[in-house]
Amino acid sequence: MVSSNGMAICRALSSCILFLACCWLCVHEAAAEGLVPALYVLGDSQADNGNNNHLVTLLRADFPHNGVDYGRGNKATGRFSNGKNFVDFLAEHLNLASTPPPYMSIRNNPSNRFIYPSGVNFASGGAGVSSETNKGQCISFDQQIDQHYSGVYKALVNQLGQNMTLARLAKSIFTVAIGGNDILNYVRGASRLVRFLRFFRYRPSPEQFIASLAQSLEGQLERMYALGMRKLFVVGAAPLGCCPVLRKGTPRKECHAEANELSAQYNVEVAARLRDMRARHPDMRYSFFDGSTALLDYIKEPKANGYAVVDRACCGLGKKNAMFSCTPVSSLCENRTNHIFWDFVHPTEITAQKLMALAFDGPAPLATPMNVRQLISAT
Ligand SMILES: *[C@@H]1O[C@H](CO)[C@@H](O)[C@H](O)[C@H]1NC(C)=O
Ligand SMILES: *[C@@H]1O[C@H](CO)[C@@H](O)[C@H](O)[C@H]1NC(C)=O
Repeated sequence: MVSSNGMAICRALSSCILFLACCWLCVHEAAAEGLVPALYVLGDSQADNGNNNHLVTLLRADFPHNGVDYGRGNKATGRFSNGKNFVDFLAEHLNLASTPPPYMSIRNNPSNRFIYPSGVNFASGGAGVSSETNKGQCISFDQQIDQHYSGVYKALVNQLGQNMTLARLAKSIFTVAIGGNDILNYVRGASRLVRFLRFFRYRPSPEQFIASLAQSLEGQLERMYALGMRKLFVVGAAPLGCCPVLRKGTPRKECHAEANELSAQYNVEVAARLRDMRARHPDMRYSFFDGSTALLDYIKEPKANGYAVVDRACCGLGKKNAMFSCTPVSSLCENRTNHIFWDFVHPTEITAQKLMALAFDGPAPLATPMNVRQLISAT
């Protein structure tokens, strides 16, 4: 009797321990899991984490002083930043195992090609909504969608089947950061002597230009929808006129008013196109982030926001350190956390981090109609 009682207790205890061990594993596993299956990234240099390293182009950042604060290795990864970019912070907020790798670094990997648990980054420095923007120097947005992402989509269907692929993609986040280079090129083309030479050629008015950008973007996002995208996070244009590269060209070194106006108009148009898309596709949800107010606030009230330098690039040469991109011969500022801008157009790591935190958890009108955290659970 005693021994069988003992054995019963033993069995009860051991199953209890097993149960506890199981619980611990489950909890542990859940904690290590991302909030979404994967993150797919398309766009320009704000998001590129090494795709352009594989191109013959001037638009690269895989050399110092880029990456001077990246991890412990001071590694120039190809990010246009002193450290991480906004996508890295997004991946952290999403609790992904890692930041999605650059498509160009994994496309020839024969084993298990595209089931990267964290997703894939297709972004390319220099890319614009228009394929004409920095043509030949980058992977155009069209190419990112119609060749690279589309290839990954087909590979996923091959491996998982159509239904599982669509189920997985529907829960994943697609982030798009594009349009800034189109606006920069439009403004810079307009401010040069070249303008005179182009006098007799057709140049669209600012309104026509922005409307055609938004229209092209809508078509591109539609193609992504057709390839399974259901949760879209769009990063609007920054107030580009305040970037050192445009500021240095104005008479009083102030923000370039026309460029800021174009960026604002672009954001209004893109937000309207997204509303239309959502109306057409009830199963699509989106979050649109317009960080202009936040960034302009940093510029107006530097001290209150932890900054000391708002008008000069940290890394560069010449007026406002904005003559050229960041290179090994550029001057480098000592304190990267008190500068808004890393180089002539890109934000410092700290600025990207602050803006991403606002996009993830911030209120309207910064994030509309919802922030990224709400986008994750939206059905
Ligand atoms: C895929 O989904 C469709 C529609 O929901 C269903 O009819 C079909 O049986 C599914 N196919 C597989 C292989 O599960
Ligand atoms: C850099 O600047 C920030 C903000 O102005 C300041 O808090 C920090 O102490 C500075 N760091 C160094 C190393 O000087």
